[in-house]
Amino acid sequence: MIVALNNKSNLTKDEFLKYQFELNHVETNHLMILCPSIVHIPLYTESKIKLGAQNVSCTAKGAHTGEIYADQLVSYGVEYCIIGHSERRQDQKESDEEIHEKVERLFEAGITPILCCGETKEEREEGREKEVIGRELDIALNGISEEDKARVIIAYEPIWSIGTGLIPTNDQIIDIIDFIKSKYNCKVLYGGSANDNNIDELKQCACIDGYLLGGLSLKPDNLKVFVNKL
Ligand code: PGA
Repeated sequence: MIVALNNKSNLTKDEFLKYQFELNHVETNHLMILCPSIVHIPLYTESKIKLGAQNVSCTAKGAHTGEIYADQLVSYGVEYCIIGHSERRQDQKESDEEIHEKVERLFEAGITPILCCGETKEEREEGREKEVIGRELDIALNGISEEDKARVIIAYEPIWSIGTGLIPTNDQIIDIIDFIKSKYNCKVLYGGSANDNNIDELKQCACIDGYLLGGLSLKPDNLKVFVNKL
């Protein structure tokens, strides 16, 4: 199982140092990936947990004020990077085409993308979830070699479930993950309000290869309970 922790835009320096110490006490044999806020990456000293970023520039090194390029992430030990998160698609207006460019930059640098996809509440009500997810993935992975495609980690995150406490039924999750796996031979994570209470139910879905955790990532005690139940 893969457990990816998306801290989002949280924790000051002192809070992160305390958090990192607490995270160190979460014992697990599963692959844990911490994606902290970018400013905390140089502070990260934990070796049991792999390091991920929450974003990367679609441009290379050069005159791009404020951007962080993939080789800079590599130089700080980053091995994974979340891309295409719905918050960035919405707030930063990131397009499928930009996300595709980010996939390319990550592979050039040897970083594994954690590529997010998922439908809004309206899209699900209209029965368009597979159309939306299929489009997001097809554009992001267009032209990527078969070898690299197989390395991508896909995170299915229904937008209506992120941070809301609402989760799809297991049948809905299985339906989407089977659809994704019929198109791409990748590991698929589930993300959206997963926590130490609903994991007993979620883990009945054999097709889930791991989880992308937002809110729970910030609560090491609950995270400990969660990983022990996997
Ligand atoms: P959540 O966030 O676990 O707080 O719902 C998941 C995510 O946005 O990756």
